[in-house]
This record gives sequence, C-alpha cells and structure tokens, in this order.
Amino acid sequence: MKYEEWKELLVPYEHAVEELKVKFKNIRKEYLAKGDYSPIEFVTGRTKKIASIIAKVNKLGVTDIEEEIEDIAGIRIMCQFVEDIYTVVELIKARDDMEVVGVKDYITNYKESGYRSYHLILKYPIQTINGTKKVIAEVQIRTLAMNFWATIEHSLKYKYDHFVPDTLAERLRRASDAAFLLDQEMSEIREDIMKAQAMYQMRDRAYKELVDRIDELFDLGDTKNAIRFQQKVSMLSSSAKLSEIMEIKKEIGDAIEEHKKVVLTNGNSDEDDDDEYEE
Ligand code: GTP
Ligand code: MG
Repeated sequence: MKYEEWKELLVPYEHAVEELKVKFKNIRKEYLAKGDYSPIEFVTGRTKKIASIIAKVNKLGVTDIEEEIEDIAGIRIMCQFVEDIYTVVELIKARDDMEVVGVKDYITNYKESGYRSYHLILKYPIQTINGTKKVIAEVQIRTLAMNFWATIEHSLKYKYDHFVPDTLAERLRRASDAAFLLDQEMSEIREDIMKAQAMYQMRDRAYKELVDRIDELFDLGDTKNAIRFQQKVSMLSSSAKLSEIMEIKKEIGDAIEEHKKVVLTNGNSDEDDDDEYEE
C-alpha cells in the first residue's frame, strides 16, 4: 500500500478521535457546570502510527485492517477513583451515538505485566462525504495511578525494545500492585467523603424540621416555649453536631406533646364546667 493510501485510510480514524475527545471532554464539562464531581479527570487520544499498523498487520497476519485492528483510533479516559471507571463505562453504554462491541476488563483480569485498565471497543459512526462510516475505536479507561504505571512501563518496554529484564519486570509487577493498593486506599477515603456528605444532608434536614416544630409550637399558642426554643436554636453554631440538633428536636417534640395534653385536659374541664353541674 502506498503512503497516500495509508493517509487516506487514516482520515476517518482521525475524524473519530477528534469527535470522541470532544464528546468525553464535554461529559466532564457538564458535571462541572452543575457543580458536581466529574468521574472524568482528563481525556487524551491518538491515531495509530502507520509503522505500528504495518508491524501489527505483519505480526498477526491481518487481512482486513479496518475489521481486525481495533486500536487505530485510540482514546484514553483518566479517572480519579476506580469507581469512576464503572460510572464512565455505564455512561458510554447508555449513549446512542456510539456502540460498545467489545469489553476487556484488565482490572479484574490484570495482565501478566501488571497492566490494569478497562477497555471498551466501540463502533462509532462518522459522517463522511460518502455518507456514514462506522469506525472501530478503542477506549482505555483507567485511574490516574493506573495511567502513571502504564506510562512508565511503556517507556521502559520501549527502552528495552520489549525485552525488559526479568528483575525489572518483577519490580514493575510489584509497582503495579502498589499502584492498585493506592487506588484501593483512595476508594476508602472516597467512601468517607460520601458518608460525610450524607451526614451533612441529614443535619440540614434535621435543622429544617427543628424550625418547623418551633412554628408548630407558635401555632399551638405555646409562645413562651416557642421563643425559648428559638433562642436555643439561634445559639447553635453552624457546625453543630447532628446529635445536638436531634436533642433539641426531641425537647421541642416533648413540649408540643405536653402542650397538646394541657390543651386537651383544659378543654375537657372547660366542657365539664359548661355541661355538668356539680352538687
Ligand atoms: P496490542 O497489545 O496493542 O498489540 O493489541 P491487543 O490486541 O493485544 O490488545 P490488548 O487489549 O492486549 O492491548 C491494547 C492496548 O492496551 C495496547 O495497545 C496498550 O495501549 C495497552 N496495553 C495492553 N497491555 C499493556 C501493557 O502490558 N503495558 C502497557 N503499558 N500498556 C498495555
Ligand atoms: Mg497486547
């Protein structure tokens, strides 16, 4: 195949890489615009070099390049946490502008080298001057730690022309385990953050209920207690613990019950006064 023909073959792949990069970057933008945490940290992409395609064709005895070589168009999506990888996978599967035709879970089944990542093979339609063309693309989704490891390992493989000495390969495997341990530690911190956020939400809700109950006391006519509790609540600091709020909430609840009881008994005795004559 002539160089010009190779260039022509690559055009749709370059097109796909450009579009996919924009689309994944926009997912991040959408999250951030809402003020939410983004499961995507950053996105990169590349089109495979002609020399690399030729090497792969020769190595694998490829007859149909467009069908058999899945990584001519390559996208990498980097995430902060392992959990984010699965969020991104679900986001991609749910889209109707790209089709997932293959999954390689190198996280659960990490490679002999120590390589970890989640790969999706996509069929992605691009619009060409001759109509729609479906292009195969490989999306590698990984944490920052996995990416750090893969980048270092790749440069070493390149340096040693794929013949990494055994001792170094072993150290790389250990480094990969260490990177994965780091990811696991980070995941545990992530859960703590989410628990803390849930706690804040509960506190806010309890505080709103507190204010509602004071209103109820006012409505019931127990102005004295309502004012007393209002003062108590105004003394609460903005960092008041949930337990402090719950305690006052219970006190107000008791006061409401007490007031209702008093009103009831007084009401009954009033009725008694009216309707029943005593000797
Ligand atoms: P190639 O490995 O690209 O020849 O294709 P394959 O058909 O064997 O697919 P595979 O899923 O094994 O790898 C696809 C891509 O994942 C590679 O092109 C790399 O970008 C990446 N990858 C796979 N294994 C490793 C590894 O051991 N180290 C690093 N750094 N990257 C890897
Ligand atoms: Mg391989």
